[in-house]
Amino acid sequence: MKRRHFIALGAAGIGSAATLHWAGNRPVADGFSAIAAPTIYTSQDGLLEVDLTAAVSPVQVGDRTANLLSYNSQSPGPRLEARPGDTVRIRLHNQLDQPTNLHYHGLHITPEGTGDNVFVSVAPGETFTYEFTIPADHPAGTFWYHPHHHHHAAEQLFGGLAGLFVIRGELDEIPEVKAAQEEFIVLRDYEIDRAGNVPPADHMALMMGREGSLVTVNGQLNPSLSVPQGGLLRLRLLNASASRFYKLQLEGHPFQLIATDGGAIASPVQIQELLLAPGERAEVLVQGNRQPDTYRLLNLPYNRNGIGMMGGMGGMMGGGHGMGGMMHGGRGSSGDAQPLATLAYSGSVAALPLPRQLGTVETLPEPTVTRRIELSMTMGHGMGQGMGMEFWFNGQPYDEKRIDIEAQLGTVEEWELANVDPDLMDHPFHLHVNPFQVVSRSGQPEPYRAWKDTVLVKGGETVRIRVPFRTFAGKTVYHCHILDHEDLGMMGNLQISA
Ligand code: C2O
Ligand code: CU
Ligand code: CU
Repeated sequence: MKRRHFIALGAAGIGSAATLHWAGNRPVADGFSAIAAPTIYTSQDGLLEVDLTAAVSPVQVGDRTANLLSYNSQSPGPRLEARPGDTVRIRLHNQLDQPTNLHYHGLHITPEGTGDNVFVSVAPGETFTYEFTIPADHPAGTFWYHPHHHHHAAEQLFGGLAGLFVIRGELDEIPEVKAAQEEFIVLRDYEIDRAGNVPPADHMALMMGREGSLVTVNGQLNPSLSVPQGGLLRLRLLNASASRFYKLQLEGHPFQLIATDGGAIASPVQIQELLLAPGERAEVLVQGNRQPDTYRLLNLPYNRNGIGMMGGMGGMMGGGHGMGGMMHGGRGSSGDAQPLATLAYSGSVAALPLPRQLGTVETLPEPTVTRRIELSMTMGHGMGQGMGMEFWFNGQPYDEKRIDIEAQLGTVEEWELANVDPDLMDHPFHLHVNPFQVVSRSGQPEPYRAWKDTVLVKGGETVRIRVPFRTFAGKTVYHCHILDHEDLGMMGNLQISA
């Protein structure tokens, strides 16, 4: 398989300082390959029409070729791009040997019928056609698609199935944002055995959620990014890993946060580090205002707890970190900072300013209903899928037939997410269809308003979120986005009635 190399040339374009992208066959510099783009499908005349075939196929990951679960023989899968108001028609062909389906993570679309309906099951050999409309007032942002078949979600995502779903809109038209060089960063880990296959998860992997030792950006190991001196780089980041967390830092360069899961924030916020739990996205601008040199995008150590915290477990499993073999290189807390990509300066342009105003994030009204959801887990000694482990919301595992929350369209609710996990394990909480705002964390108000659909609830922490139920009635789900936890019970059904 040929890797596509892109060479970025610093070029002062007419009326913009955008850097030219040029597909060639040469690496950018010794030891680096330029960042690759997947196949891109863009809507035409208001229609995005795509065939996606889920199948096992040979895919290049870093410097290896592996038999991965892929969409159209790619992992990450093709990038889909649409605009507010567009119709989307996706024919999903299932050539796997198990059922699958598609979820449109973060999109505010109907959860029913052929929309973002995670209760659809597409049997092996079958085709299902998804068709839905993106609301005309849908925010621009970085969303994604992945399988969501209960009991198979972690395995299929970890096996390679996931792709970006971008909504283009107002944020993209802000002059400074438009002038920035745009790069997508899909963070994904893979595990590949000697035969080139993805190994099954063991007990430890189920508890922490499965992680792989090959940590990639767009399926590549340490690709290079470039920015002209004086220019802006717009990084659109997605954590598409089944369980791995990323704590990102770019040497010498702070991040200017411009968007979260649900799109633009009001104005840029400077941050030194960016923690992305599974499922989360962020967009940042990087100013090319340092000495021309190379700078590493690092994944810093982060401890999400879980292993060895429970006395009995710790002893039983041999005591914590470092245990568990190659499958788990650094999961509880990883050792060293790990380079994910390398930024190089290339060319120069007249200095570009940062944008001031990005969008408006409304203040939500006081809630009409308040609920508390407790996140926890229990260790068992069974032999089934989870070997007795269960992950819970409010003390019980997921039941497909039970409605856990009934909400009313047109209302705003406040949910108190309390992580009472005895292992103090972090759990990223995710709600479908309905973006929310974080109000506070352990009593501390959030410093700025932002639309989110996935929020990290650390061990022992309580996070309050405010959710407006707008536009779409129907049944959908909320769950932990460590998908092994979801498959093992940390999910609930939400019924929204008109
Ligand atoms: Cu990205 Cu219900 O998931
Ligand atoms: Cu989702
Ligand atoms: Cu979890």
